[in-house]
Amino acid sequence: MPARTSHQQPIRVAIVGTGAIARGSHLPALAALTAEQPLEIVAAVDVSADSVAAFCADAGIAHPYTDLDLMLAEQRPDLVILCTPPRFHRDQTVTALRAGAWVWCEKPPCPSLEDFDAIEAAEGGAETGGPYAAIVFQHRFGSGSHQVRRLLAEQAMGRPLVAHCQTTWYRDEAYYSVPWRGSWSSEGGGPAMGHGIHQMDLLLDLLGPWSEIRAMAGRLVHAVETEDVSTALVRFENGALATVVNSVLSPDEVSRIRIDCERATVELTHLYGHRNADWRITPAPGVSPEQAADWRDFGADVPSSHEAQLRGLLDDLRAGRRPRSSGADGRTSLELVAALYKAAFTGHTVRAGEIGPGDPYYSALHGNAPGWAPEPAA
Ligand SMILES: NC(=O)c1ccc[n+]([C@@H]2O[C@H](COP(=O)([O-])OP(=O)(O)OC[C@H]3O[C@@H](n4cnc5c(N)ncnc54)[C@H](O)[C@@H]3O)[C@@H](O)[C@H]2O)c1
Repeated sequence: MPARTSHQQPIRVAIVGTGAIARGSHLPALAALTAEQPLEIVAAVDVSADSVAAFCADAGIAHPYTDLDLMLAEQRPDLVILCTPPRFHRDQTVTALRAGAWVWCEKPPCPSLEDFDAIEAAEGGAETGGPYAAIVFQHRFGSGSHQVRRLLAEQAMGRPLVAHCQTTWYRDEAYYSVPWRGSWSSEGGGPAMGHGIHQMDLLLDLLGPWSEIRAMAGRLVHAVETEDVSTALVRFENGALATVVNSVLSPDEVSRIRIDCERATVELTHLYGHRNADWRITPAPGVSPEQAADWRDFGADVPSSHEAQLRGLLDDLRAGRRPRSSGADGRTSLELVAALYKAAFTGHTVRAGEIGPGDPYYSALHGNAPGWAPEPAA
């Protein structure tokens, strides 16, 4: 498998979209990793000339652009980090892949499974070592999720039986006054897609493939196109049953995953990121203290973060190997979100794999459902 760039050559990074997440999470992650390996931010792009100019000035980036194609042609970056609103993710990812760059795209991946498949079709293969497009799902990464994923994969705590996955956050009117939020075409969906996708992605990463889902969605507070709350019941291939709640109506905010296994309950409680102390493992009666202590040995504390995911992605880029959270591994969360909406809007149980080309929920997460799909323009 050919490596795209040697270990000595700096990886050339470009950031597209210079708003809140680019400043708040990507710049710090890149700064930390630049201190430990050859890495260089060569350019940034934004439709707002003022925004990109200020971003480049603050971060010491030499080349501000307002045109993605021009930036790709002139700078030839190895990695493009997309921090734009979701409606641009498909086209910008495909454009960057076609220019030969790897892509790390902010969640949610893109507004439909059809869009995701177009992205996958534009990726390079194993024979060329990419380029690949991965999604930012930083909650999968860090020492806590690493340890619990291993324990579950080895069934060290017995079979997983019951799970709860909760994203109960609070978003006010000011949040929804940003033009790209609250609509299917620009944000992609409500809290199932935009907020809860992080915890659902982690749940899937821990428990493996799901097999069926039933769901309800409501628009209880906000004057938006999408839902502002959803609840779901999910059966996993391994037999475990889970409840999933995604809300932006919950004043006492929390992100939580709880998995009851035969010999222990694992619980993660946090808000926007976790570290070792946020995980709790409660053994069942009869489990020895030594065994429980072994399960709780999370090792050195590596918080979930953009930095933790990016470190692995850069290793994969150098090795020309498909990164986690790309391809089928990146599609799983969007599949579950699409199925959640289909189950909620049709009132039917949805089975894994049933949403494909020709299904209305394949090309739009609202599935053209009455009362949920946008009104046609007059
Ligand atoms: N991983 C996380 O925890 C996390 C947290 C917050 C936001 N996000 C995601 O990050 C993305 C951006 O969110 P944000 O809060 O930074 O938004 P934002 O509105 O603060 O920033 C978006 C930026 O993109 C620019 N932009 C818009 N259209 C563009 C285009 N066509 N080309 C280039 N630039 C364009 C805007 O001018 C703006 O500067 C969203 O997908 C969001 O869901 C992820």
